[in-house]
Amino acid sequence: MIILKSSREIDRMRSASLIVAEILIGLRSLVVPGISTWDLDYFAASMAVKRKAKCAFKGYHNYPSSLCCSPNDQVVHGIPNKNPLSDGDIVSLDFGVIYDDFYGDAAITLPVGVIKASAERLLKVTEESLYAGIEMVAPGNRLGDVSSAIQNYVESRGFSVVRDFVGHGIGRALHEEPQIPNYGVSGKGVKLRPGMVLAIEPMINEKSHEVRILDDNWTVVTCDGGLSAHFEHTVAVTESGYEILTRIN
Ligand code: MF3
Ligand code: CO
Repeated sequence: MIILKSSREIDRMRSASLIVAEILIGLRSLVVPGISTWDLDYFAASMAVKRKAKCAFKGYHNYPSSLCCSPNDQVVHGIPNKNPLSDGDIVSLDFGVIYDDFYGDAAITLPVGVIKASAERLLKVTEESLYAGIEMVAPGNRLGDVSSAIQNYVESRGFSVVRDFVGHGIGRALHEEPQIPNYGVSGKGVKLRPGMVLAIEPMINEKSHEVRILDDNWTVVTCDGGLSAHFEHTVAVTESGYEILTRIN
């Protein structure tokens, strides 16, 4: 069942989402060669305390940290550690909070220092694919319109869409219906209605779409060692189209 949110509930989701966006902006300025993902996790958790928000991921199915940090060939759900990030790395940061009973969830992928042109392109195409999907969010459109817009944007530029992980509805739970694949067929799937709130999150690989999970039972990596990027926004369906609740900037 897809739970529709009232405009007052969306106001509350906006508050949660703004905290997530602010913390990601803070993290963006900290990502330089030499910082560890442990340090980034500490910063995110401290900022959340200051904002009186609870970190959404910590303890979720026993996930051990507040932030997911996934460098290079890690796709999602990387666990923070004390290894310093290096010049030329990329790192995906995924963060969520619960505030006033509602969740907000967003992710960005950042360059560490100076990165290769091919990595720059992966980040750009992944972020733009998120916006290509969001552009399709409007009442009366279908979920397949969002999914296929992402897939077409990515595949026509030579990258591949991860199949094994998907976006999701969000609200009083981190993961609500519907599931939101980043591949699909336009005109198919659930019809979008005002009050739906969607966490849209393309996970895009440089080479093959195939992924596997490491022995820590969390970290998802590409099978071929190619780079992977991830961008996510929490987006409300409005009467006229959409509102990006986690808008950064
Ligand atoms: N943005 C991810 C998701 O929506 C984060 C979940 S990580 C977990 O699935 F640690 F909480 F599982
Ligand atoms: Co999510």
